[in-house]
Amino acid sequence: MPVSLVILAAGQGTRMNSDLPKVLHRVAGAPLLHHAMQAGAALSPERVVVVAGHGAEAVSKAARAWDEACGIVVQAEQLGTGHAVAQAAPALAGVSGDCVVLYGDTPFIRPETLEAMLEARARHAVVVLGFEARDPGRYGRLIAQGEALERIVEFKDATEAQRAITLCNSGVICADTALLLDLVGTLGNDNAAGEYYLTDVVELARRRGLSAGVVTCDEAETLGVNTRAQLAEAEAAFQARARAEALENGVTLTAPETVFFALDTVVGRDAIIGPNVVFGPGVTIESGAEIRAFCHLEGCHVSRGADVGPFARLRPGAELAEDVHVGNFVEIKNAILEEGVKVGHLTYLGDADVGEGTNIGAGTVTCNYDGVMKHRTRIGKRAFIGSDTMLVAPVTVGDGALTGSGSVITADVPAGAVALGRARQVVKPGLAPKMFEMYRSIKEKRQKDAK
Ligand code: UD1
Ligand code: CA
Repeated sequence: MPVSLVILAAGQGTRMNSDLPKVLHRVAGAPLLHHAMQAGAALSPERVVVVAGHGAEAVSKAARAWDEACGIVVQAEQLGTGHAVAQAAPALAGVSGDCVVLYGDTPFIRPETLEAMLEARARHAVVVLGFEARDPGRYGRLIAQGEALERIVEFKDATEAQRAITLCNSGVICADTALLLDLVGTLGNDNAAGEYYLTDVVELARRRGLSAGVVTCDEAETLGVNTRAQLAEAEAAFQARARAEALENGVTLTAPETVFFALDTVVGRDAIIGPNVVFGPGVTIESGAEIRAFCHLEGCHVSRGADVGPFARLRPGAELAEDVHVGNFVEIKNAILEEGVKVGHLTYLGDADVGEGTNIGAGTVTCNYDGVMKHRTRIGKRAFIGSDTMLVAPVTVGDGALTGSGSVITADVPAGAVALGRARQVVKPGLAPKMFEMYRSIKEKRQKDAK
């Protein structure tokens, strides 16, 4: 049966104390919204609708960056979760099957939990995801007998006895799309908050003789982000899980608690990740590669047998083929390093192609930017770039060519050639003592004058 998703993301998130809409705050390098969209994507939804409101433009941009085809509806005024779902109606026109409602600020719902909700739909017209809360606080309370759900009472509207219930509403709800839209269309707002509560659809369905049910999950899954403190908690929870998963998948983490993953980091089996390594978005590390201590990687690919760091930075577009060696204080951006390239120390390679087996000496810099445009440096196979070579792009160094240390290479170097782009050395025998003598007398004169 087809499934659609509605993701509620219109709220301002006042308690974040931020200019940024809440769902765009990041956990593991990705906006909260992407986490929710990824959780829902596991159901292969036929249609995804994001309800935006505060910062709608930025929110829709982020939503489209994750899923180009997703629908966006704008809820101009935040009149409640039920009102928010009702806004999705036009975007869901003609869609059949079930609809799952998720919150954009609740990043950790597991796909298995959503699957369990869809299964429970065989038994109930409306299925709500609940959890046993350690501290039920202001969550909506589920009035239920076993799996059978009678209704949901919001904290504000609850009696003392109802507030003592610890089974709480996560906010995730699932029902037949047409039924859900029909129900939210008939909601009232006669309650303590004066809002159109999505939670009221349970009672409305039951009044029509339909049944409602609860599926429960661990409280950790329903962690919602309302404050910066909860954002930090969410980050910690994500990282703890990502580290455990990496270890489980056969990755060595020397000091797991110091490694930070992004939502989409992929690390192959038998890779070794040293202490204090940070992965930004878009990184894949193949099996058996090694990332040494204190590296920062983002938007890059490291192949089997390659080793990186300590203290290296791989930026977007860095592509390291098998057995490439990248050493300390090396920065690589938008550059392809073919098999066996060695770039050991203190180097910047930006907008470059480096052929297999080439050695890049310490202190090499691709001068890729002229202040206006970026230019590419092309280095062939088995070339030798002497230490402290400045490669002023656009420039090409051919296969097997050699550049002398300290060269500023401004013209193409043909294959097999040696290029020296530096001043010839001058030697003056016996001059050093005279120069030191001259410096000393200058210093003495300055000290005298200062008195
Ligand atoms: C809601 C539930 C409550 C549940 C809790 C779980 C209702 C009435 N209450 O309460 O039972 O225990 O979540 O966290 O549903 N949103 C919109 N438009 C709106 C209102 C909200 O898009 O008009 C979005 C918010 O951005 C947020 C989500 O819906 O992502 C939940 O809204 P929020 O105001 O946090 O609901 P709670 O009062 O916490
Ligand atoms: Ca909330």
